Amino acid sequence: MSKVVLVTGASSGIGRATALEFAKRGARLVLGSRGEEAGTALLKELGDMPALFQRTDVAIEADTRALVDLALERFGRLDVAVNSAALEARGSIEAFDEATYTRVFDANVEGMFFAMKAQIAAMRRGGGGSIVNLSSTGGSRGMPNMAIYVASKHAVEGLSRAAALDLAASNIRVNVVAPGPTLTPMLSRVTDGHPEAFARRVPMGRAGAPEEVARAIVWLASDEASFVSGVVLPVNGGLTAA
Ligand SMILES: NC(=O)c1ccc[n+]([C@@H]2O[C@H](COP(=O)([O-])OP(=O)(O)OC[C@H]3O[C@@H](n4cnc5c(N)ncnc54)[C@H](OP(=O)(O)O)[C@@H]3O)[C@@H](O)[C@H]2O)c1
Repeated sequence: MSKVVLVTGASSGIGRATALEFAKRGARLVLGSRGEEAGTALLKELGDMPALFQRTDVAIEADTRALVDLALERFGRLDVAVNSAALEARGSIEAFDEATYTRVFDANVEGMFFAMKAQIAAMRRGGGGSIVNLSSTGGSRGMPNMAIYVASKHAVEGLSRAAALDLAASNIRVNVVAPGPTLTPMLSRVTDGHPEAFARRVPMGRAGAPEEVARAIVWLASDEASFVSGVVLPVNGGLTAA
């Protein structure tokens, strides 16, 4: 039986590419993000594939639960969850306000926490599963002018490592993919439309394609990685090798 795979942040960038990579491998998909139009367009692209989209704001706990419920109702189980939904914010610490802090942490940290809570409950019922959370190079080191985002991604890595320990005996693996600069709308926003500014720092001399990150996610989520849990896998063209 094909795997049931849930992806948050599926409407764009890495989440979208991940949904398409899983579809190629015959997965049954449950996709969520806030933007309904992009979600519906993705379903159209997936054609006859067994895929569902539901409007989901991960900052709302009931939404994350409802997405898992959809997987259980329509496909009867949940095998894999990829938590890709996130927001970025640029600015100096002095200039950031409480609203920005709350908005970013609500989506990137609290949203991931509540999403995982619902996902774990469903996976336990099915006898196990695999969760892949999206961090960033900023999840383990500093990045200029992005303090709130960097702090949120450090939290993602801590949350994921702790969860990997708590869930290891329950046959639920939790891992992290930490992309370097990847050609998505987020990178475009962060670089004011000039991704080459970030790509220049990558030893391989280019930004990654979302599909390159997606294939690492698919591997970590798969049974090929059956003894891998609690790791952070950088997918960044050598950026953190030095
Ligand atoms: N691109 C990069 O260079 C890069 C580098 C390092 C890490 N990352 C990480 O990779 C992941 C994917 O980023 P990306 O580059 O693909 O960004 P993206 O193109 O901006 O996509 C982000 C996705 O998250 C969704 N999203 C945002 N807030 C949400 C919320 N509250 N609830 C539900 N969905 C929400 C967005 O859809 P809606 O707006 O429709 O909700 C969108 O589908 C993120 O975790 C990001 O931090 C990206």
